[in-house]
Parts: sequence; C-alpha cells; structure tokens
Amino acid sequence: MEYQNLKGTHDVILKEAQDYQFIVDLMSDVCRLFSYKLFKVPVIENANLFQRGVGESSDIVRKEMYTFLDKGERLISLRPEFTASIIRSFVNNKLYANSNLPIKAYYHGPVFRYERPQLGRYRQFDQFGVEILGTDSLYFDAEAIILGYTILKQFGLENVKLKINSLGDEESRTSYRNALKEYFSQYIDNMCDDCKQRFKLNPLRILDCKVDTDKEIVRAAPKMSDYLSKDSKIRFKHLKEILDENYIPYEVDDTLVRGLDYYSQTVFEFHYVSKKGFDYGAIGAGGHYSNLINELGGPNLQGVGFSFGIERIYSILKDDELIPNPEYSIDIYVAAIDESANLSAFNVSNLLRMHGFVCDSDYQFHKPSSAIKIALKKQAHYVIFIGEDEINNNQLTIKNLTNQTQDIVKYDDLILYFSEQLEDDHEEN
Ligand code: HAM
Repeated sequence: MEYQNLKGTHDVILKEAQDYQFIVDLMSDVCRLFSYKLFKVPVIENANLFQRGVGESSDIVRKEMYTFLDKGERLISLRPEFTASIIRSFVNNKLYANSNLPIKAYYHGPVFRYERPQLGRYRQFDQFGVEILGTDSLYFDAEAIILGYTILKQFGLENVKLKINSLGDEESRTSYRNALKEYFSQYIDNMCDDCKQRFKLNPLRILDCKVDTDKEIVRAAPKMSDYLSKDSKIRFKHLKEILDENYIPYEVDDTLVRGLDYYSQTVFEFHYVSKKGFDYGAIGAGGHYSNLINELGGPNLQGVGFSFGIERIYSILKDDELIPNPEYSIDIYVAAIDESANLSAFNVSNLLRMHGFVCDSDYQFHKPSSAIKIALKKQAHYVIFIGEDEINNNQLTIKNLTNQTQDIVKYDDLILYFSEQLEDDHEEN
C-alpha cells in the first residue's frame, strides 16, 4: 500500500529544499546584521500556553489547533505560531533578568494550523520570525518593521506593500471595543455563526470576517483611528516619522487588526503582488504586544515581533524569478571506467572529501561518455576517470569540464592538484 501525505502538508525536497534553505540563510544573515540571536524552541507545548497567549477569541485557538492528550494525560498542542513559545522560553530562562534588554531573538521552523488548505494556505507550514523582548520603545517597533522590509528588499522583491496601523493602548481598545459592540448589536442576528461567537468573545475579531454578506456590514463599522487615545496617536505619528526618515514606504490601513489577540499599538503586514499579478496576501505580519509577557507569567515587560510565511515567500520569489537558478554544484565527479576500478573510485572519492572537496560518485562502471553526461548533470567542474591504466600507473585522468582540458595526475599529487585548480577557479569567479 502506498501512503499519501496528509491534506494541507507538502514535501519540500531536492531543489525546492535547497531554495527554502537559501531563503532561511538570507533571512538569518540579515537578522545577524541587526544583532539577533537564534532561538530553537519545542514544536510541542502545553495547550494552554497558546490558549492564553494567542487568545481564546482567535480563530487559531477556537478552530485550528492540533491538540491531543499525551500518554501522561497532558493536553499538548503542536505550535500554531512561535511568539508564545519564544516568550515562554524568555520567561522560563529568566532572560528578563539580563541587564541589557531587549533580548532579540530570531527563529524558524514548522507551525501547524488546521485550516482549509488552498493556494498559499497549508496545515503545516514554515515560519521565520523575530521577537524583541523587554522593551516598550517605539524604536524597536520601527526596527522590527525595517528588518522585515530589509529582508524582502535583499531578495530583490520590488512590489512589497507594507501596511501599518495602530490598535492603541488598553484605553483606546476598550473604547473601540465598546463602539464596535454597539454598532454590531444592530446586525449581529443576521451575521454568520462565527461572528456571533466573536461578538461575545471579542468584537474586534468580526473585522476579520471573510463572509461576503458580513463584509458589507464590516465596511461601515467604526474605525480604530477615531478611538485612539492621545498618547497612542502621538506614538503612531512618531512611528510614521521614523519610517519616513528611513525611506520606508508604507500605507496606513485602518482596517488592519490582525487575527491574534495579543497585539496593542503598532501592527503591520507585508503584502505582495507578483509580477504576474497574483496577490499572495500577507507574506509576513506582526506587531507590538504590551501585556503578553506578563500574561504568560513573566514580568510587566513589552515586546514586538513578526513572522514570515516561508511557503508564500518561496512562491513569490519563484514567480518573480528571484531564486538563484543552479542546483548546488559539485567540485568533482569520480567515474570508474573499468569494472575493476569501482573500489578505486570509492577510495579516491573518500580521499577528496576528507580534504574538503565536494565530490560525488556512484562507484560503478560507466563509459567515459556517459560519465561526462552524469558529471554535467550534477554540475561538476571536473570529472576523474579511473580505469585499469590509471590503476596500473598510479595516476588519474582528470577532465576540466569548463575548458575541456585534460590532465594526467599522479595519485600522490591529487590533493595538491585540486587545491591549486579550484583555488584558481574560485579566483576567476
Ligand atoms: P500570522 O499572521 O498568523 O502571525 O502568521 C504570519 C505569516 O505566516 C502570515 O503572514 C503568512 O505569510 C503565514 N501563514 C499564516 N497562515 C498560513 C498558512 N495556513 N499557510 C501558509 N502560510 C501561512 C503570527 O503567526 C504571529 N506569531 C506573528 C508575530 C510575531 N507577531 C508578533 N510576533
């Protein structure tokens, strides 16, 4: 019986896996430029970390978590996001006691959400993100946004649209929630069942409703900007000034509220429409959180962060042809051109690898012409032929596949030969 992968999951293999690695490597490099440190946290956590962290009124907690009892009867969830886990780790490891706050973390790995699979929407997908923990300074909201923007620019993406909004402080959100409650109370009986639930738990969530008939009602709802406190307005104004001074283009989107419950003040999303005109929606998103660290058992400290969806970034890079084309090349392909040379091919390959040359072989006899075809397919720079003559004379025939020259090299000089040759090649590149 052949097994299929689960709905909403996908294999990332061969060239695609290499491309994912390219994405993660570039993002990690930019994070290190901004002095962030890698955090690796478990995929499984106590379910209530996310119930508390992401919030009872979010779709993620209400409908999308993979939650199960383990053999010790503990309620466990596969992480639906990283932020709550990173904060748990910050609190558990007492990183808040560090005199040099904030702690700046970057992370990547799989997350799990039981969503309806569709283009760009998976049940297991990869995120790459950052959290800046232990500061309420507006400069770090700006740093997070600029870091995300810099990463996307480094990929060569031209059509990045950065949307920002302010959800204000507690005072602003309470008066906005009240205004929404009053507004939606006239319509709620005719809205979808999800919205009825949202109305009870957190009317802000209604603004995310995707049902067409509800969207009309949502469009005319009160706007957050009219309910921002004086302090929140000033904070948002300063943020925009910092972005302007650093030449970061953005668009203020009054309807941006985000689907997770923990945000306050700054929220933002990166959107992208590929050159072919396909709208990938949010390729990354995040915001500031004022109470989350405290809610998860830590001190009264604030933070900010964002996450990219790697699958979506991969798709836009592919659409816009921004992924480096070649598969990883190898330095040398080793071919046995006589049946008796298989063992020598193995030994020579091993010797080369031990000296740091990227080398491949299938340790099987091939005619020279088919060995060259294999070597070219593997994007090798050189092919070594080993047959009876070579073994008897303690030497190797080496063909340079770039300039088609051929050398006979003594076995004992092999490492010196490639050290010089490949150094020359690297210099030429
Ligand atoms: P989020 O908006 O839920 O935020 O997810 C971040 C990104 O993950 C999205 O912008 C999208 O690119 C990608 N994504 C979300 N769902 C899926 C899916 N089903 N399939 C593929 N990609 C998806 C968070 O997760 C927050 N923790 C971000 C954050 C960090 N806020 C503060 N710090």
